Amino acid sequence: MLGFQPPAIGDEEIAAVAETLRSGWLTTGPRAAELERRMAEYLEAEHVLALASGTAALHLALVALGVGPGDEVVTTTITWPATVNVILHSGATPVFVDVLEGDLNIDPGLAAGAVTERTKAIVPVDLAGQPADLDPLLELGVPLVEDAAHAAESWYRGRKVGSIADVTCFSLYATKNIAAGEGGLIATNRDEVAQAVRDLRLMRRGDGSRYDITVPGYKANLSDVLAAIALCQLDKAERHAEIRRRQFAAYDEAVAELPGITPLTRDDRDVHALHLYVVRVDPESAGATRDEFQRALAEENIATSIHFLPVHKLTLYRERFPDQPPLPVAERAGDEILSLPLSPAHSDDDIADAVAALRRVHERFTG
Ligand SMILES: Cc1ncc(COP(=O)(O)O)c(C=O)c1O
Repeated sequence: MLGFQPPAIGDEEIAAVAETLRSGWLTTGPRAAELERRMAEYLEAEHVLALASGTAALHLALVALGVGPGDEVVTTTITWPATVNVILHSGATPVFVDVLEGDLNIDPGLAAGAVTERTKAIVPVDLAGQPADLDPLLELGVPLVEDAAHAAESWYRGRKVGSIADVTCFSLYATKNIAAGEGGLIATNRDEVAQAVRDLRLMRRGDGSRYDITVPGYKANLSDVLAAIALCQLDKAERHAEIRRRQFAAYDEAVAELPGITPLTRDDRDVHALHLYVVRVDPESAGATRDEFQRALAEENIATSIHFLPVHKLTLYRERFPDQPPLPVAERAGDEILSLPLSPAHSDDDIADAVAALRRVHERFTG
């Protein structure tokens, strides 16, 4: 089976973990601090804070901004459920808006219409590595918490993702472009938000035995063992990006000749992080549904995935918000999207195999 998104871990990461273990730093220590310093430079952000997961980053961002019960948070439905779950954790109410047809990112016009006096934050997602359209969202004057789990390498209109929103949240999960296995980062230029996150991520504040606390912390700090892996991955980011560019180009060339198989749009004013290669399968012209394509590719030993099913249609949210109106663009997309294998751990031949399998399956369904 050709894996969907295997991690690209090499001898450097293995050596860095061994060295960290020998150093005695199992928990947060000098490597986490170095990761914060280097990521702040890379992301062009004033402050970067290392956290236990992307989910924790999103959650603490909302808490640090004071989002709580009675508040509303406007967000997209085409995302990993964590984006929305943390809104529930904060005590606020998620307000789902539909997405744009081309890149499946939050529709800024609809987001504007969803803002009320109770809106305390907007959480867009940079799906697959394409930044959401941030300028019209910033103009709404509501704090922006950008879910950039897919977008560590992205730029929006000449500005680095991580330097734009009030808070930008990244993930170091096993499949991500900079992968530590687990982990997350918060980037912000707001001093008081950075200080609040610092207080919230650990249980304690102060030194030595005379500790004191001012807030109930979440214990969401990052271990040095994982920070050491992330630092190696950051060193390799450009080399890995070069491989992803070749893989994207191979898929682009292939799907251009396959009626009914269309990649999500990428805005050439931006730099796309090339995190996921997502296509839409139009059953009319591709001769079969997304699910049929996914099954047929699995039979060809090609693993694929779905990013993402609309969150408002998942059981928790259907039951919690039974009056949720339909979100037609997202709901249709949820039935049509398919993510193809993509990883710097794959060789060009691996991707050629995936392309050949896709061509065979397409020919069978349309022939
Ligand atoms: C869009 C998006 N947001 C948030 C997360 C949560 O990140 P983590 O798994 O590091 O908690 C993920 C993925 O894992 C994601 O894909």
